[in-house]
Amino acid sequence: MAYETIKTETRGAVILVTLNRPKALNALNRQLIAELSDALDKYEADPDLRCMIITGSEKAFAAGADIKEMQPYDSVTAYVENLLGEWDRIPRTRKPIIAAVAGYALGGGCELAMMCDFIIAADTAKFGQPEINLGVMPGGGGTQRLTRFVGKSKAMDMCLTGRMMDADEAERSGLVSRVVPADELLGTAFEAADKIADMSLPAVMMTKEAVNRAYETTMAEGILFERRLFHSAFGTEDQSEGMQAFIDKRSANFQNR
Ligand code: HXC
Repeated sequence: MAYETIKTETRGAVILVTLNRPKALNALNRQLIAELSDALDKYEADPDLRCMIITGSEKAFAAGADIKEMQPYDSVTAYVENLLGEWDRIPRTRKPIIAAVAGYALGGGCELAMMCDFIIAADTAKFGQPEINLGVMPGGGGTQRLTRFVGKSKAMDMCLTGRMMDADEAERSGLVSRVVPADELLGTAFEAADKIADMSLPAVMMTKEAVNRAYETTMAEGILFERRLFHSAFGTEDQSEGMQAFIDKRSANFQNR
């Protein structure tokens, strides 16, 4: 598939996906989500790729789902066609994804960033769920994920008033993992991605699965799930290598097996 609305670039074991609809502030239309899904399929199928970064432009990570594309829908068509159902491919990804966000991350843009495993923000980032201004509400997980990130009070405030949160507030509230100067955004994201890409892939995938489980289950079940995955990590060659490397005072050479 030749991409028109995203660009991809591979550096070592890291694939960078840049959302690329600059005239529409990277509004997320059907084509873009289909291309992103295709890139995710290729990423997951390629054993040489071990971390993905999704980024946008300086001005906008993404200013939301494409309003012009959605405007003509009625509720029956939205339901029958499962409007935005294609987005579910993103959180199904088992390998790690970092969102590197500068500028606007609004509506579906904020939701896309929250579907990634963590968000590194430029000091220019602005997050919001402004769908209320359009006479609708978040539809890509915003009411659920934002609430889990920042708590009920801030999530209600953002979703009901449509106000934006700047990068500092986003970091204070736990929405983003770190804030960096805008010109260091990609460098920082690559540093984190390279670090993850050097780890044991099964350990990375198990960790992602276990952290995500925290949102789906009780504490006791989640801890049991974690313990079972932890036990299964002892079936990997990387566990023997990682622990032996520590004992030998050398760096580990993971085989991802
Ligand atoms: C389609 C969009 C768009 C969007 C911007 N554009 N956001 N087109 N869908 N979400 C287009 C504008 O129409 C304009 O096109 C061009 O991008 C530049 O935008 P401006 O508004 O002129 O830029 P600026 O004045 O700098 O304002 C930036 C902005 C504003 C504050 C981000 O564009 C804005 O409020 N955008 C909408 C944000 C929003 O409501 N997002 C939620 C969408 S609903 P032209 O052709 O005029 O140059 C959603 C549903 C969630 O996301 C469900 C997801 C699963």
